Amino acid sequence: MYPSEKVLEIKHPVIARDLTILRDKNTSTAVFRLALGRISTILAYNALKNIPLRDFIVETPIKNTTGYEIDAEIVVIPILRAGLGLVDAITTFIPDARVGHLGMYRDEVTKKPVDYYVNIPNGIENALVLVVDPMLATGGSACDAISFLKSKGAKNIRFICLISAPEGIDKVLNDHPDVSIITASVDECLNENKYIVPGLGDAGDRIYGTT
Ligand code: PRP
Ligand code: URA
Repeated sequence: MYPSEKVLEIKHPVIARDLTILRDKNTSTAVFRLALGRISTILAYNALKNIPLRDFIVETPIKNTTGYEIDAEIVVIPILRAGLGLVDAITTFIPDARVGHLGMYRDEVTKKPVDYYVNIPNGIENALVLVVDPMLATGGSACDAISFLKSKGAKNIRFICLISAPEGIDKVLNDHPDVSIITASVDECLNENKYIVPGLGDAGDRIYGTT
């Protein structure tokens, strides 16, 4: 068990049902995307739980009362390509969130992340930066992404993923103890090919139908 302020594993019947859809190798791309969208929305909602609010007076048709607006700059950073599948979940709640992109793939032999594209918005120093990727396996991609964003000045980072392996969680907590993880499942382990067990297979291939 991890401390919940470090690793928030969201338990919910809808998540249990949708994770099953995602894990099922016979699920079609269309149905996979719908389940991914639902789970991502629940994760995003929870990842935004304690963001700061600013109060102001709002005039209802009846009287003035206290209203609230979000008092935080939110930047979303999907790790391409699979991370793109989680962006809409954040912008559902924060329509003006800015979106940066980090292109990274795991080399099939070394299993180490390889960078191929970077486009990060200005101003991440003062933003809540939500790094999104469906899978946290060895933690190599997540840790490289987080280190890179810190080198660009990011100070407040949360990592959102659908499925995580203990190995990846341990690496993120060890390398970046200031970063919290929001996940729908902490799975059992990694296999000999560094895939998450039981996992869902290759997230990018399943989202984009590229098997
Ligand atoms: C997957 C996944 C993560 C990474 C996780 O991406 O989306 O980015 O692997 O593995 P790690 O924790 O061991 O680094 P992949 O390399 O398959 O690229 P893709 O998104 O382009 O399919
Ligand atoms: N990347 C994936 O897409 N799935 C895994 O299980 C591990 C890394």
